[in-house]
Amino acid sequence: MKRVTAKAPINVALCKYWGKRDETKVLPMNDSLSLSMRDVLTTTTVEPSNELCFTIDGVVQSEAEHEKVSDFLAHFTDEAPHVHVRSKNPVPTGAGMASSAAGFAALGVAANAYFNANLDTQRLATIVRRGSGSAVRSLLGGAVVWHRDGSIESVAVDVEAWRMVFVVIDDRRKTIGSREAMRRTVATSPTYDAFVNRADSDVKKMISALQDGDLDAVGQIMEANQDAMHEAMAQAVPPIVYRSDASHRARNLITTLRARGIIAYATMDAGPNVKVLVEERMLTRLKSELRRAGFARVLVSRIATVGAVVIDEN
Ligand code: ADP
Ligand code: DP6
Repeated sequence: MKRVTAKAPINVALCKYWGKRDETKVLPMNDSLSLSMRDVLTTTTVEPSNELCFTIDGVVQSEAEHEKVSDFLAHFTDEAPHVHVRSKNPVPTGAGMASSAAGFAALGVAANAYFNANLDTQRLATIVRRGSGSAVRSLLGGAVVWHRDGSIESVAVDVEAWRMVFVVIDDRRKTIGSREAMRRTVATSPTYDAFVNRADSDVKKMISALQDGDLDAVGQIMEANQDAMHEAMAQAVPPIVYRSDASHRARNLITTLRARGIIAYATMDAGPNVKVLVEERMLTRLKSELRRAGFARVLVSRIATVGAVVIDEN
């Protein structure tokens, strides 16, 4: 019997996606851009089983999670999926570190091969985004743009000397999912439009900053873009606040370190954990400063040149 294993990179959004979603589709409201991670990967195996079983890190997931996976697999097969989906996440699940992005990209690519669906990457993108919008960007390597029209593109950039440092502040599952956060922000936040209006132009500026290899410019756009997203959420009714005191402390530390010559910039997604973009030659100093400030739990990644791929099929 067949067994397929795929891996997919976690991606870190330099320019965030925000969107609307209904039962059947996800509509990104703006272009977004992320870097795929080479050393922080989700691995997912799909293999035959008597009934659908979905595990992450060896833990059988809830009934609701099984339903989500079952609905997702219906895009690849007309039959009831008698498979075991066995996934390993490199970061805490549901804590704003893009487990859902890499998870659905890996599952999409694995299911595509397992069920012989033969979908191309653009078609896969329209499917994986139903699992998680940001998953489309984990299908490709490098600097990945997800356009508002649904298409994806990897932009040629040289970021070999850059590293992303994941600072794990809190690994608990978030209490408000990003889906609900988006719904509420779109429906009630007076500054949501302001975020959307700036987002497309942020992506354009980001692409040229990346092509110039200008980490300062990239970092400044990234920090301003994430501030706009978090501010829009903070003004939703009731407010959504993902950044904790520790997140702000880490961000302030990064700002202070810049004044001391360590070129690094911070961003946060739908959770309190912080990602720091830094040049490799500054990494040792950055890690030691983080440790000194009590941020000892870190993961470091290079930037990936490939996205989600099947790594084993037999
Ligand atoms: P995160 O911030 O980690 O992306 P979300 O709350 O957006 O968290 O999404 C978490 C959800 O993503 C999980 O409830 C699960 O449905 C899905 N998910 C996470 N990891 C995987 C995985 N490895 N395979 C399939 N789905 C996953
Ligand atoms: C804040 O992909 O987690 O991380 O489509 O509802 O699953 P759903 O949301 P998700 O989006 C979170 C968006 C973000 C920013 C980004 O990654 O662009």
